[in-house]
Amino acid sequence: MTTAEHGFTPSPTLRAHVAAYERDIENVLVSEQQIRAKLLELGEAITADYDGRRLLLIGVLKGAFVVMADLSRNIRLPLEFDFMAVSSYGIATKTSGVVRIIKDLDHDLEARDVLVVEDIVDSGLTLKYLLKNLAARKPASLEVAALLRKKGIQQVPLDIRYVGFDIPNEFVVGYGLDYGERYRNLPYVATLKPEVYP
Ligand code: IMP
Ligand code: MG
Repeated sequence: MTTAEHGFTPSPTLRAHVAAYERDIENVLVSEQQIRAKLLELGEAITADYDGRRLLLIGVLKGAFVVMADLSRNIRLPLEFDFMAVSSYGIATKTSGVVRIIKDLDHDLEARDVLVVEDIVDSGLTLKYLLKNLAARKPASLEVAALLRKKGIQQVPLDIRYVGFDIPNEFVVGYGLDYGERYRNLPYVATLKPEVYP
């Protein structure tokens, strides 16, 4: 589909990646290039830190699937993968504090080195709940890698070993993050124009 069919021309400062989405984008907070460089850096750190260990990556669905795919290809170690699905948001943009496990892991965590991969840590409630749940399964180690952290407004202090970017307290989409299940495939992290929200 061409941009002409959508009746608008994407801003030259944005990548014309999903033409139908770009009219909704307000600001690109983290560019595709910045994400690529950061995931390379994090991948190298994880490669060094876990050398000689049996690392299991746990992705938190759905948002983490993009970070998981790109980060894991920068980790030059034998890896195993597992996924968990939790719900905390529905389609709203505020944390409810209620976390529900929708899909549990296939792996037994006992004596495994576990790295939880998250798209974003906002209030930290989701992660706090998850870490408590996972720690009870007796892994050898349990750490977190998060692409984004909303700095300053976290309701629960959490020790996140690998953080990509600290961002302001704004709702963002892209790179796996959605608003109403849309925008996940944008290659950058961006805010939406106010008129996009009902
Ligand atoms: P928390 O429990 O407040 O830390 O929220 C964690 C989850 O809420 C993330 O894994 C996301 O799925 C979702 N979330 C938090 N902030 C945003 C955002 O800015 N955009 C999209 N989803 C978000
Ligand atoms: Mg979501």
